[in-house]
Amino acid sequence: MNRLTVHLTDRSYTIVFSHGDLKPFAAYVRRHFHDARIFVVTNTLIERLYKDKISSALAKTGRSLKFISIPDGEKFKSLGSADRVYTRLIQNGANRSSLIVALGGGVIGDLAGFVAATYMRGVALVQMPTTLLAMVDSSIGGKVAINHPLGKNMIGAFYQPRAVFIDTAFLNTLPDREFLCGFAEVIKYGLILDRSFFEWMQTKFDRVQSLNRQAIRRTVERSCALKCRVIEKDEHERSLRMILNFGHTFGHALEGLSEFRLFKHGEAVFLGMVVAAHLSFKLKKISEADCAGIESFIKKFVIRFLTKPMRRFLGDVSESEFYQKLKSDKKVTQNSIRFIILRKIGRAGIQENVSELLVRQSIAYLNQWVNALHR
Ligand code: NAD
Ligand code: GLY
Repeated sequence: MNRLTVHLTDRSYTIVFSHGDLKPFAAYVRRHFHDARIFVVTNTLIERLYKDKISSALAKTGRSLKFISIPDGEKFKSLGSADRVYTRLIQNGANRSSLIVALGGGVIGDLAGFVAATYMRGVALVQMPTTLLAMVDSSIGGKVAINHPLGKNMIGAFYQPRAVFIDTAFLNTLPDREFLCGFAEVIKYGLILDRSFFEWMQTKFDRVQSLNRQAIRRTVERSCALKCRVIEKDEHERSLRMILNFGHTFGHALEGLSEFRLFKHGEAVFLGMVVAAHLSFKLKKISEADCAGIESFIKKFVIRFLTKPMRRFLGDVSESEFYQKLKSDKKVTQNSIRFIILRKIGRAGIQENVSELLVRQSIAYLNQWVNALHR
């Protein structure tokens, strides 16, 4: 078992890594939550898979335990679901000393976190991520949110958990498509912060994918350490934290334009990173060889998830629609789009005032790149 501390003065917390061992979580509950009611917020699928395991891990603590489940899916990261969870909390006597455990992927982590931040003006939250994406990204750093019909993650807060328990054995039941999605964020960390981690992934990906325990452990722990380094310097995303959005501005546009029906978040981020790497090359920040190296690694993933409807969609969407969508992103300030670009592999920066022409050319490039994949 390994640990990592996120240093945020009075909001500091520990990330505990384990594999098939929930004892550290039970010990933590016993130590910190005397007489507390524990509410595990999850979805119906994860409840079916893991309710018994969580219940038996906590049985000896003697704490009262209640599961609150919402249906599975991004569309349930909504005010309606939050309302449903609030109702169940009130009905079951949740109070300010209760603990909410977010057991699930990013959807549950964001929703349960949002509920924890707002219920009775804030109750304790523990994140227990069950997808690779949630382990390496969404469970850390305190961004919690629900979607609004007019925009993703539009209603939310920064609300740090009290602790994060990452048990990589949860990945044993994760479908391959979801596993690949998590990899988009892992590759992102290498590209923006750590060239040698990126190179390590290029050589060790097969081991990671076959859930080799050492390889998974290094992947998850290194990703978390890199994210923590950023969070500690800029918790509220005033500047540095923005680099974590590398590939995301383009990815969010793709998700939005396809009405969240075609691409999973990680898939859109993979494609967004192709555009962002190309833009970095067009801005003469990275070499053609580095850009080609990035694309050829990302290609290994994209060819596995790219469907005909996705290709058709990418061929049909116009550069102007795409550009307009970028401008409607919630992170756009005074009409200027901030792009996260690579200065080299392992270092990212924020670039404003990028010419519309270069952005449009990079968008157009994505379609050519995707078409070339199947030749
Ligand atoms: P998700 O939460 O929808 O989970 C993906 C699928 O895997 C779901 O069907 C889920 O039920 C299933 N699943 C989860 N764990 C499983 C397991 N162990 N075994 C079998 N099935 C399992 O998707 P995600 O990719 O984890 O998260 C995406 C969400 O995260 C988006 O809403 C995105 O906005 C958010 N996000 C938030 C942050 C942040 O910093 N807060 C960062 C990145 C993404
Ligand atoms: N997922 C980006 C962030 O946490 O800032």
